[in-house]
Amino acid sequence: MAFATPKRILVTGGTGYIGSHMVQVLLRRSLAVTVLDDCSRGHQEVIDLLRSEAASESRPCDLAFERCCVSETERIRDLVRAREIDSVIHFAALAYVGESVERPLDYWRTNLGGTLSLLAAIEGTSVARFVFSSTCATYGVPEPSLIPIREGCPQHPINPYGAAKAAAERAIADFHAAQTARGISLACAVLRYFNVIGCDPRGVLGEDHDPETHLVPSALAAALGRRRELVVMGTDYPTPDGTCLRDYVDVTDLCEAHWAALSALTPRAHETFNVGTGIGHSVLEVLAACERVALTRVPSSRGARRPGDPPLLVADSSLIQRRLAWAPRVTSLDDSIASIWRWMRANPRGYA
Ligand SMILES: NC(=O)c1ccc[n+]([C@@H]2O[C@H](COP(=O)([O-])OP(=O)(O)OC[C@H]3O[C@@H](n4cnc5c(N)ncnc54)[C@H](O)[C@@H]3O)[C@@H](O)[C@H]2O)c1
Repeated sequence: MAFATPKRILVTGGTGYIGSHMVQVLLRRSLAVTVLDDCSRGHQEVIDLLRSEAASESRPCDLAFERCCVSETERIRDLVRAREIDSVIHFAALAYVGESVERPLDYWRTNLGGTLSLLAAIEGTSVARFVFSSTCATYGVPEPSLIPIREGCPQHPINPYGAAKAAAERAIADFHAAQTARGISLACAVLRYFNVIGCDPRGVLGEDHDPETHLVPSALAAALGRRRELVVMGTDYPTPDGTCLRDYVDVTDLCEAHWAALSALTPRAHETFNVGTGIGHSVLEVLAACERVALTRVPSSRGARRPGDPPLLVADSSLIQRRLAWAPRVTSLDDSIASIWRWMRANPRGYA
């Protein structure tokens, strides 16, 4: 059965860190993009930046922006119809593990409830492909023998963020099965990514959260004197240097994985992929890399563990490598850190 290639794509959370980079990739492929974001954590400024980038490269740019919450089902259905959307990439979410422990209801409402509303909005429309941003946090604390983690590893999330994402994965699978049973062709890909770093090497897009909780921009902000210090949260984990080990994948590679998944989906498929590099780096190793890139010391101190943080999360990404011929191109931590370092130095106030 012929399956039209994705042409008109709705990106939820498209003014956020990863979503904006995805929009850039789609625009560079001359696709029509509609961004839906309530800008609670994103930056509307990226829309103008992406339009200006396209103009400066004399590229056509079909980019629409709707400031809207993912829970506004009717409004989104109207938007999907008006823009004749054929594919959805769903990034919009609250995405801080620590905050999810303190404000679990917000995380269940946005990350599960928002996904349910979005699925309801696309039901009965022309949307044939759906890609969902999931996370390694759905795995919880796997047995050491299950590391690196494969997609079949049991999911026992230990924080509300991971739990709501795992529940959203299940809701997508149930919705997909029901659509398929009715003869409606909806193809879904669930990407479980590990820790995302780096930014647009051309320097148009960066990473700007307030408050910033991600390790690399936090460490670089300390190196630049924009925050007092970086607190290493937990130095007594069962890892070689006592700090958490994570698998860091560059945002440009991650966006290519989304594009590979979206364009390779076959009618009625439902696929789940890990996206990582297979290499674990400890917090102290990342700090050392930040110091190498910044050519200065990062002021830091040692603090208590952060609730909800598993000690060790490293991906086995062989499935996506085999199925979609995807492989990370940026394999040096220093190269990813250098891209965000350049952006932070060029944009001392972030997107503001
Ligand atoms: N950054 C990572 O390391 C990482 C790792 C694994 C998974 N993820 C997932 O990737 C996705 C994007 O993460 P990010 O790091 O870019 O986060 P981000 O906070 O930068 O982007 C999320 C975007 O969603 C928007 N948003 C939040 N609630 C919304 C709502 N109710 N309606 C509409 N828009 C809303 C925000 O305004 C923001 O622009 C999330 O789903 C996150 O769970 C991120």
